[in-house]
Amino acid sequence: MPPERVDMGGYTLIENAPLANRNTLRVDARATLLAEIRDAAKLPELLDFPAVRHSRLLVLGEGSNMLFTGDFDGTVLAMETRGVQVESDGDSARIAVAAGERWDDFVRWTLGQGYAGLENLILIPGTVGAAPIQNIGAYGCEVAEFVESVEAWDTRERRVVTLDHATCAFAYRDSLFKHEPGRYVVTAVRFVLPRSRPLRTDYAGIDEELARMGVDKPAPFHVAEAVVRLRTRKLPDPAVIGNAGSFFKNPIVDTALADALKREHPGLAAWSQPDGRCKVSAAWMIEAAGFKGFREGDAGISNRHALVLVNHGHATGPQLWALAQQVMHGVHGKFGVQLEPEPVVIGER
Ligand code: EPU
Repeated sequence: MPPERVDMGGYTLIENAPLANRNTLRVDARATLLAEIRDAAKLPELLDFPAVRHSRLLVLGEGSNMLFTGDFDGTVLAMETRGVQVESDGDSARIAVAAGERWDDFVRWTLGQGYAGLENLILIPGTVGAAPIQNIGAYGCEVAEFVESVEAWDTRERRVVTLDHATCAFAYRDSLFKHEPGRYVVTAVRFVLPRSRPLRTDYAGIDEELARMGVDKPAPFHVAEAVVRLRTRKLPDPAVIGNAGSFFKNPIVDTALADALKREHPGLAAWSQPDGRCKVSAAWMIEAAGFKGFREGDAGISNRHALVLVNHGHATGPQLWALAQQVMHGVHGKFGVQLEPEPVVIGER
């Protein structure tokens, strides 16, 4: 029997809700209570129910950056709010976007409207509200660069707050929101996008792809097309095989270790950081440790990209997590580098 749905006007409540279709790793898990939120203004009412007030909270967008290792004993807030508002327009626009909008739809909309900036971030799965949490990034760009502020419901102060760029404390795949899990429910993100800016095409094959496309004076939509082609070739599509994009962050190591690693492994890709440290390629190390395409039951590492953990069918959360740990141990054993998962791991780890 499908679980009972109760429409509360602005949101719907579902008890003992299945989450398998709400996380892109397609892990079978359940939430004690799930609230589908269509109107962010109803959040205070919902969060005031005693059963919700005293429960753990988990905010869910498309579940494209999450691994459930068990059921979630608490309330899942599935943000399904919609709306894009251009607040001012000139050489650059301020655009406020509801948290539940799909990120890729928004990127395509901005390009269609003639705004620049988000072209390198096309085709990233997930919602707009999730984008600032892990500061999504690809092809040499990060979303933080374009975020003016984030609007959220602060569950501690019980009020709407606007967190400006500096307060969000953005860093590589990191922000304030990751350090205070459960505190903020992001309701909207305010972006500033220019009409034109220098394109970033020198990263990870974009220039080569533009050349293959026969484009010598690229516009933002050309760069977006090149990124779509690169991503489609390199990364497995979550609609075809369960995955959460990069499962590991590229570790940032100190200069001494980076130099030693590069001496011993000349093929290892590495990027110098502004603080003098060095970001090294997790994918390269995972492949060199022999895990690319490795499979244990239905849990595996993609044979297309070594950073991507995949669910070949019916892998459970604990099976996927066990494989991830095996990869982390393997890389640590071979390179002395500790990998960290990029997605949020919900449950025992
Ligand atoms: N590489 C391998 N084996 C592989 C894949 C890559 O050795 O199986 C090597 C490549 O040869 C290259 C280096 O690793 O020298 C980097 O590869 P790539 O350009 O694919 O980028 P990445 O550092 O592995 C990051 C992001 C991706 C983003 C790409 C493209 C992280 C954790 N991941 O991956 O983001 O799409 O750059 O810019 O920073 C995500 O976060 O979910 C994600 C997919």
